[in-house]
Amino acid sequence: MISPFQIQHSDSTAADAEPRTKDIVLTGDRPTGALHLGHLAGSLRSRVALQHEHSQTILVADLQALTDNAGQPRHVSAHVLEVVADYLAVGIDPEQTTIALQSGLPALSELTMLYLNLVTVARLERNPTVKTEIELRGFARDIPAGFLCYPVSQAADITGFRATLVPVGDDQLPMIEQSNEIVRRINRLAGKAVLPEARPLLSTVSRLPGADGRKASKSLRNVISLGASSEEIQSFVSAMYTDPAHKRATDPGTVEGNVVFAYLDAFDPRADEVTALKTQYRRGGLGDVTLKRRLVDVLADVIAPIRERRTQFARDEAYLQQVLDEGTARAAGVTCSVLDDVREAFALTRRGQR
Ligand code: TRP
Repeated sequence: MISPFQIQHSDSTAADAEPRTKDIVLTGDRPTGALHLGHLAGSLRSRVALQHEHSQTILVADLQALTDNAGQPRHVSAHVLEVVADYLAVGIDPEQTTIALQSGLPALSELTMLYLNLVTVARLERNPTVKTEIELRGFARDIPAGFLCYPVSQAADITGFRATLVPVGDDQLPMIEQSNEIVRRINRLAGKAVLPEARPLLSTVSRLPGADGRKASKSLRNVISLGASSEEIQSFVSAMYTDPAHKRATDPGTVEGNVVFAYLDAFDPRADEVTALKTQYRRGGLGDVTLKRRLVDVLADVIAPIRERRTQFARDEAYLQQVLDEGTARAAGVTCSVLDDVREAFALTRRGQR
């Protein structure tokens, strides 16, 4: 089988930053459920590829997840080890990548507190990703302050490791921009470059939509988990939005905005065949049923080996916990040294008793 991590696309949108000789790579995920195919296409594949050449940390961002789950905290804690199992199942190697728990690194929270002084409320309200999320969650005027400020906490995640490269989907670009603004302010305060700016690494496939064509989101239930069963794959694909004007197989159809093609582009290893299918679909003569059947097979090939490994890891919670504990311990040192530098920039040199 062709590994899902090695797919290259000729018609891909170029990543805007090439990894350099030795980057410090940092990413995170909110543990609110199993990771999904959007994560795989958007950044997990890059992370698997980057871990051999670069120094990489992945944060299980439980504090960030709490910013919109404070009413149901167990919904966060219950999924922490599941996300660790997802990492291992897709090929993240805990010997090469440090997997750490955000709430186990108090220096990140202290950094957040200090950074909040460098950001205005108006700036936070302008963040387009946060804006969309506020609408999706129906917060209206009742936005938790922690939620509005999570990009600042994410800046602490990124800078807390002196990260230079962040592989993400394009919805996370505003977070990196916000982080770099904070970096520049800290460096100006310190009068020297104590923190590096980070570059985004965009996936070679553009952002995957949800099955209904809207933004992929666990809360909209339009995503499919990396542990999905064959039946779940089947019903996920059959519910997929195609082209409402394409009623009969003989009708010409539209490829742009067609969710089935978006997933084929991301996961079908036979890119030339997909190109031919697009031509046929546009001309007329290719039915949605045939097309969807192909996608079911493609996704089954991608998910089955991940699901199998995931089930194996899920049986050994003690091991998952150990991976996370060791990773968190390893991560603590660098976050504390960054905090020292930032405290100094704010003239907070005296620590009292610690
Ligand atoms: N905001 C990211 C998401 O929703 C998760 C995240 C938390 C993250 N901390 C990060 C991503 C640091 C990149 C870097 O997917």
